[in-house]
Amino acid sequence: MASSLPSDKIILTGFMGCGKSFFSKKLADDLKLPLFDTDSMIEKKAELSIKEIFARYDEAYFRSLEADIAAFIHKSNQSAVYATGGGFPIYYDQVLKIGTVIYMDIPFETIVERMDKSEIAKRPLFQDLDQAKKLYDSRLTLYKERSHFQIDATQSIEDMIQSVKAFLRKI
Ligand code: S3P
Repeated sequence: MASSLPSDKIILTGFMGCGKSFFSKKLADDLKLPLFDTDSMIEKKAELSIKEIFARYDEAYFRSLEADIAAFIHKSNQSAVYATGGGFPIYYDQVLKIGTVIYMDIPFETIVERMDKSEIAKRPLFQDLDQAKKLYDSRLTLYKERSHFQIDATQSIEDMIQSVKAFLRKI
Protein backbone atom coordinates (compact mmCIF):
# COMPACT_ATOMS: atom_id res chain seq x y z
CA MET A 1 0.00 0.00 0.00
CA ALA A 2 1.30 3.47 -0.80
CA SER A 3 2.36 5.76 2.01
CA SER A 4 -0.48 8.31 1.72
CA LEU A 5 -2.41 6.34 4.32
CA PRO A 6 -1.18 5.34 7.76
CA SER A 7 -0.64 1.59 7.18
CA ASP A 8 -2.24 -1.50 5.80
CA LYS A 9 -4.66 -1.72 8.65
CA ILE A 10 -8.13 -1.80 7.14
CA ILE A 11 -10.76 -0.40 9.50
CA LEU A 12 -14.32 -1.31 8.54
CA THR A 13 -16.95 1.01 9.95
CA GLY A 14 -20.71 1.31 9.70
CA PHE A 15 -23.93 1.36 11.65
CA MET A 16 -25.17 -1.67 13.59
CA GLY A 17 -26.46 -4.33 11.22
CA CYS A 18 -24.74 -3.02 8.10
CA GLY A 19 -22.98 -6.39 7.65
CA LYS A 20 -19.47 -5.58 8.95
CA SER A 21 -18.92 -8.99 10.57
CA PHE A 22 -19.83 -11.03 7.51
CA PHE A 23 -18.13 -8.74 5.03
CA SER A 24 -14.95 -8.42 7.11
CA LYS A 25 -14.48 -12.22 7.04
CA LYS A 26 -14.81 -12.31 3.26
CA LEU A 27 -12.54 -9.29 2.79
CA ALA A 28 -9.85 -10.61 5.15
CA ASP A 29 -9.92 -13.97 3.33
CA ASP A 30 -9.60 -12.28 -0.02
CA LEU A 31 -6.79 -9.93 1.07
CA LYS A 32 -5.12 -12.78 3.00
CA LEU A 33 -5.00 -10.65 6.12
CA PRO A 34 -5.87 -11.63 9.68
CA LEU A 35 -9.21 -10.43 11.02
CA PHE A 36 -9.92 -8.75 14.34
CA ASP A 37 -13.29 -7.62 15.64
CA THR A 38 -13.26 -4.78 18.19
CA ASP A 39 -16.43 -5.99 19.93
CA SER A 40 -14.91 -9.47 20.35
CA MET A 41 -11.72 -7.88 21.72
CA ILE A 42 -13.82 -5.91 24.24
CA GLU A 43 -15.80 -9.03 25.23
CA LYS A 44 -12.58 -10.98 25.75
CA LYS A 45 -11.05 -8.23 27.88
CA ALA A 46 -14.21 -7.78 29.99
CA GLU A 47 -15.02 -11.51 30.03
CA LEU A 48 -18.61 -10.43 29.37
CA SER A 49 -20.79 -10.14 26.28
CA ILE A 50 -21.59 -6.67 24.93
CA LYS A 51 -25.14 -7.10 26.19
CA GLU A 52 -23.87 -7.98 29.69
CA ILE A 53 -21.46 -5.03 29.75
CA PHE A 54 -24.34 -2.62 29.06
CA ALA A 55 -26.64 -4.38 31.55
CA ARG A 56 -24.16 -4.68 34.45
CA TYR A 57 -22.45 -1.34 33.90
CA ASP A 58 -23.52 1.29 31.36
CA GLU A 59 -22.68 2.69 27.95
CA ALA A 60 -19.95 4.93 29.39
CA TYR A 61 -18.11 1.87 30.73
CA PHE A 62 -18.44 0.15 27.36
CA ARG A 63 -17.02 3.27 25.66
CA SER A 64 -14.05 3.29 28.04
CA LEU A 65 -13.25 -0.33 27.08
CA GLU A 66 -13.72 0.55 23.42
CA ALA A 67 -11.35 3.52 23.76
CA ASP A 68 -8.67 1.23 25.26
CA ILE A 69 -9.04 -1.17 22.33
CA ALA A 70 -8.90 1.74 19.85
CA ALA A 71 -5.67 3.02 21.42
CA PHE A 72 -4.22 -0.50 21.35
CA ILE A 73 -5.03 -0.97 17.66
CA HIS A 74 -3.70 2.51 16.88
CA LYS A 75 -0.32 1.68 18.42
CA SER A 76 -0.15 -1.81 16.92
CA ASN A 77 1.71 -2.51 13.68
CA GLN A 78 -0.45 -5.53 12.92
CA SER A 79 -1.62 -5.45 9.31
CA ALA A 80 -5.16 -6.77 9.42
CA VAL A 81 -8.80 -6.16 8.69
CA TYR A 82 -10.48 -4.69 11.77
CA ALA A 83 -14.27 -4.91 12.00
CA THR A 84 -15.46 -2.24 14.43
CA GLY A 85 -18.53 -1.68 16.57
CA GLY A 86 -20.95 0.93 15.23
CA GLY A 87 -19.80 3.63 17.67
CA PHE A 88 -16.06 3.11 17.15
CA PRO A 89 -15.38 5.90 14.60
CA ILE A 90 -17.85 8.19 16.33
CA TYR A 91 -16.15 8.04 19.72
CA TYR A 92 -12.54 7.58 18.54
CA ASP A 93 -11.77 10.84 16.79
CA GLN A 94 -8.30 9.65 15.72
CA VAL A 95 -9.76 6.79 13.69
CA LEU A 96 -8.48 8.14 10.36
CA LYS A 97 -4.94 7.91 11.68
CA ILE A 98 -5.18 4.24 12.61
CA GLY A 99 -5.38 2.93 9.08
CA THR A 100 -7.50 2.92 5.96
CA VAL A 101 -11.06 3.52 7.08
CA ILE A 102 -13.78 2.05 4.89
CA TYR A 103 -17.35 3.02 5.69
CA MET A 104 -20.15 0.62 4.76
CA ASP A 105 -22.99 2.86 3.66
CA ILE A 106 -26.52 1.47 3.85
CA PRO A 107 -30.00 2.99 4.34
CA PHE A 108 -31.50 2.50 7.80
CA GLU A 109 -34.56 0.87 6.22
CA THR A 110 -32.39 -1.87 4.66
CA ILE A 111 -30.77 -2.60 8.02
CA VAL A 112 -34.22 -3.02 9.58
CA GLU A 113 -35.32 -5.36 6.77
CA ARG A 114 -32.21 -7.51 7.23
CA MET A 115 -32.02 -7.72 11.03
CA ASP A 116 -33.74 -10.63 12.71
CA LYS A 117 -34.77 -10.89 16.37
CA SER A 118 -31.57 -12.58 17.51
CA GLU A 119 -29.46 -9.87 15.85
CA ILE A 120 -31.53 -7.18 17.57
CA ALA A 121 -31.31 -8.95 20.95
CA LYS A 122 -27.48 -8.73 20.93
CA ARG A 123 -27.53 -4.96 20.46
CA PRO A 124 -28.47 -2.80 23.48
CA LEU A 125 -28.67 0.35 21.35
CA PHE A 126 -31.09 -1.23 18.86
CA GLN A 127 -33.91 -2.07 21.26
CA ASP A 128 -36.12 0.85 20.28
CA LEU A 129 -36.53 1.39 16.55
CA ASP A 130 -37.18 5.15 16.78
CA GLN A 131 -34.13 5.65 19.02
CA ALA A 132 -32.00 3.56 16.67
CA LYS A 133 -33.14 5.65 13.68
CA LYS A 134 -32.29 8.85 15.57
CA LEU A 135 -28.86 7.44 16.39
CA TYR A 136 -28.32 6.51 12.73
CA ASP A 137 -29.33 10.00 11.56
CA SER A 138 -27.13 11.67 14.14
CA ARG A 139 -24.07 9.65 13.09
CA LEU A 140 -24.34 9.58 9.31
CA THR A 141 -22.30 12.72 8.59
CA LEU A 142 -19.51 11.71 10.94
CA TYR A 143 -19.31 8.18 9.52
CA LYS A 144 -18.71 9.71 6.10
CA GLU A 145 -16.29 12.38 7.31
CA ARG A 146 -14.29 9.83 9.28
CA SER A 147 -13.62 7.49 6.38
CA HIS A 148 -11.15 7.36 3.50
CA PHE A 149 -13.56 5.47 1.29
CA GLN A 150 -17.22 4.49 1.28
CA ILE A 151 -18.79 1.39 -0.16
CA ASP A 152 -22.41 0.81 -0.99
CA ALA A 153 -23.23 -2.00 1.45
CA THR A 154 -26.39 -2.99 -0.43
CA GLN A 155 -24.22 -4.48 -3.21
CA SER A 156 -23.19 -8.14 -3.41
CA ILE A 157 -20.19 -9.17 -1.29
CA GLU A 158 -18.19 -9.77 -4.47
CA ASP A 159 -18.91 -6.25 -5.76
CA MET A 160 -17.97 -4.75 -2.41
CA ILE A 161 -14.68 -6.68 -2.37
CA GLN A 162 -13.88 -5.51 -5.91
CA SER A 163 -14.70 -1.94 -4.98
CA VAL A 164 -12.39 -2.03 -1.91
CA LYS A 165 -9.60 -3.66 -3.91
CA ALA A 166 -9.88 -1.07 -6.69
CA PHE A 167 -9.58 1.65 -4.06
CA LEU A 168 -6.59 -0.01 -2.36
CA ARG A 169 -4.80 -0.32 -5.71
CA LYS A 170 -5.11 3.44 -6.24
CA ILE A 171 -3.62 4.56 -2.93
C1 S3P B 1 -22.67 -0.10 19.04
C2 S3P B 1 -22.58 -1.10 18.11
C3 S3P B 1 -22.33 -2.50 18.45
C4 S3P B 1 -21.55 -2.59 19.78
C5 S3P B 1 -22.27 -1.84 20.84
C6 S3P B 1 -22.45 -0.35 20.50
C7 S3P B 1 -22.95 1.28 18.61
O1 S3P B 1 -21.58 -3.15 17.43
O2 S3P B 1 -20.25 -2.09 19.61
O3 S3P B 1 -23.50 -2.46 21.06
O4 S3P B 1 -22.74 2.23 19.38
O5 S3P B 1 -23.38 1.46 17.43
P1 S3P B 1 -22.21 -3.57 15.97
O6 S3P B 1 -22.09 -2.36 15.10
O7 S3P B 1 -21.35 -4.69 15.52
O8 S3P B 1 -23.61 -3.98 16.22
